[in-house]
Amino acid sequence: MNLVSLSSPKGGVGKTTLTANLAHALKRLGHRVVVIDFDVQNALRLHFGLGFGEGRGFVAQAVEIDDWRRLLVPSASGIELLPYGEVSDAQRLAFESWLSAHPEAVAQRLGPLLNEPRCVVLADLPPGPSPSLTAMGAADAIQVAVLLADSASLSVLPRIEGGDFMGPGVRPYYIINQVDRRRRLSSDVADFLQDRLGSPLLGNVHRDEAIPEALACEQSIFDYAPASAAAHDIDTLARSVSRLLPSLQSHGVVAPAL
Ligand SMILES: Nc1ncnc2c1ncn2[C@@H]1O[C@H](COP(=O)(O)OP(=O)(O)OP(=O)(O)O)[C@@H](O)[C@H]1O
Ligand SMILES: [Mg+2]
Repeated sequence: MNLVSLSSPKGGVGKTTLTANLAHALKRLGHRVVVIDFDVQNALRLHFGLGFGEGRGFVAQAVEIDDWRRLLVPSASGIELLPYGEVSDAQRLAFESWLSAHPEAVAQRLGPLLNEPRCVVLADLPPGPSPSLTAMGAADAIQVAVLLADSASLSVLPRIEGGDFMGPGVRPYYIINQVDRRRRLSSDVADFLQDRLGSPLLGNVHRDEAIPEALACEQSIFDYAPASAAAHDIDTLARSVSRLLPSLQSHGVVAPAL
């Protein structure tokens, strides 16, 4: 199944930013890319040119519509979105309790998208435990934990490795975000994590001001600063992600590295 989720026990580590820019990178590699936002902050859409006034989303209709392809919102980049949408508290609670009772529904409702050759679905999760995180386990998603190169991320690592966060039996992958080699602590923690995590570490992303600047200009990192360290890192990450997905591999997509 071509479903990849980005989650973290801690907030503000870059899940939404990386989901969006990985989507752009995978699109550049020639794939059909769908992104789905499970966070009530509804911020993923901002990376795809959907403004603050755009309240459309899948959550309000997620229960009654059993094929979520009908709820896809197109974007100028060609990436298709399932934004969370603007919802009332009652709608959010109803969605969460439905998802808690039916964690298998995500895979069913994304249905054919998950088995379509050359299609990848990226899910942006809220921080911490959530019904959507449980649903990712039920969907057998490739689950990626986003860490920062700091001591707080080190302190949550045993929970992730021990299965307390994503659930027992899940084999997590990792991304270390906001690595700053000019800072000793950041550099030392990144090196430590690299040794500790081994091959499930999909890659590192430098701390790079081009990332927030790109969002402020409503552009992907590849349009805003194609020669930046972050663009190079995210392109490399996308290639690592696509190697994990058999149906992307079998179609032999070729694109020059940045
Ligand atoms: N590699 C990076 N370099 C510089 N800034 C970054 C980088 N990655 C993310 N940021 C910035 O960090 C902030 C948090 O990013 P983001 O909102 O993507 O985190 P999040 O994990 O989705 O947060 P939340 O837990 O609230 O959903 C944003 O201002 C973003 O621009
Ligand atoms: Mg987020």
